[in-house]
Amino acid sequence: MRHDRFLADPILPVDTLPLEVAVVVPTLNEAANVEKLIERLSVVLAGRGWEVVFVDDNSPDGTSDLVRRIGRSSRHVRVVQRVGRRGLSSAVIEGILATAAPVIAVMDGDLQHSEDALPRLIDAIEKDGAEIAVGTRYVDGGGTGDWDRGRVRMSRLATRAGQIALRTDVSDPMSGFFAVRRDAFERALPRLSAIGFKILLDILASSPTALKVAEVPYTFRTREAGESKIGVRVIAEYAELIADKTIGRFIPVRLLKFLMVGGLGVFVHLAVLRALLGLGDSFLTAQTGAVIVAIAFNFFLNNSFTYADRKLQGWRVLGGLASFYAISALGAVANIGIGTWMAGHDERWWVAGVAGVLVGAIWNFAMSSALTWRK
Ligand code: GDD
Ligand code: MN
Repeated sequence: MRHDRFLADPILPVDTLPLEVAVVVPTLNEAANVEKLIERLSVVLAGRGWEVVFVDDNSPDGTSDLVRRIGRSSRHVRVVQRVGRRGLSSAVIEGILATAAPVIAVMDGDLQHSEDALPRLIDAIEKDGAEIAVGTRYVDGGGTGDWDRGRVRMSRLATRAGQIALRTDVSDPMSGFFAVRRDAFERALPRLSAIGFKILLDILASSPTALKVAEVPYTFRTREAGESKIGVRVIAEYAELIADKTIGRFIPVRLLKFLMVGGLGVFVHLAVLRALLGLGDSFLTAQTGAVIVAIAFNFFLNNSFTYADRKLQGWRVLGGLASFYAISALGAVANIGIGTWMAGHDERWWVAGVAGVLVGAIWNFAMSSALTWRK
């Protein structure tokens, strides 16, 4: 009750309209676009209690400062500035958690999402009872604008993959333009993966109950200022999100990556072994050389792939490599010990072999994540 009186208090300088909707905008170097975006938002959202929350990853172009400057004269405008952090999905999550609004819209900061569709997204929730309303390029009335054929095909393919893996029939699950009811978001929150670019897909797949979805067509605009952040990393993170949402329930994605690297290490080992034998080395020397190279290969690949988020740099690479050699040596001892013990209990040679490899690999994973790449 007191809240209502407070909101209606005439001394308060802010809009007397209660906060109805927040627009969360992740930004990385979008200083050239934010002013125009805010202007357009104030046109399409006029008459509603609204705010925009920019979540900026400390952009070198000064996006955060610019937003704060505008925020001093407009209480509709706020910024969450993150330092030493990256990631579109996690930015969106933190923006949603930073607002009190009961409905949250999410859109890009580069003017590619046409704000004309925003009122329809919000109304689909407030008037039509949807829990989440998705701006879609792939139904009548929507479109991908002037994307070239390659990018359209790639997006279609990724969309199909996402729909199949996550069993959703939303036409554009890759969209970064949507509105969601706060309570629906909060129910999905504990299970969000927060990896990469695709927060909508993450929310749809993490919700404990199927969400009531509305689709609103829009046409993706051409970016006029600033640069797109899409690249191999975005694609890799998409694959990781899908892995986490499917097999991730049974086995951690990091362990999976570690095992993949180990599998590649076997090939490296064999290649080096063969090369050294070809040079006339004895088997003992050649095998020793192959082990040394394969472990280093595994270390570097794990450092930039499996543990990209905790990547060792500079001098710390040397310490990491040394600890990885020590851990792998003990892993080999465990591998041989378990394998030999199994061989005494099961006559299939390969069962013993695989058991040894698995125990060794899991030892290496557990120890290296606790020591070599500790948080
Ligand atoms: N805070 C933060 N951190 N923001 C980021 C980051 C990040 O690491 N990476 C990108 N952004 C911001 C950009 O500044 C922009 O406002 C928005 O996220 C989208 O980034 P773009 O680089 O412009 O993405 P895009 O145009 O390739 O991709 C768009 O299309 C996809 C559909 O194919 C985005 O709209 C996606 O959300 C959408 O899913
Ligand atoms: Mn863009």
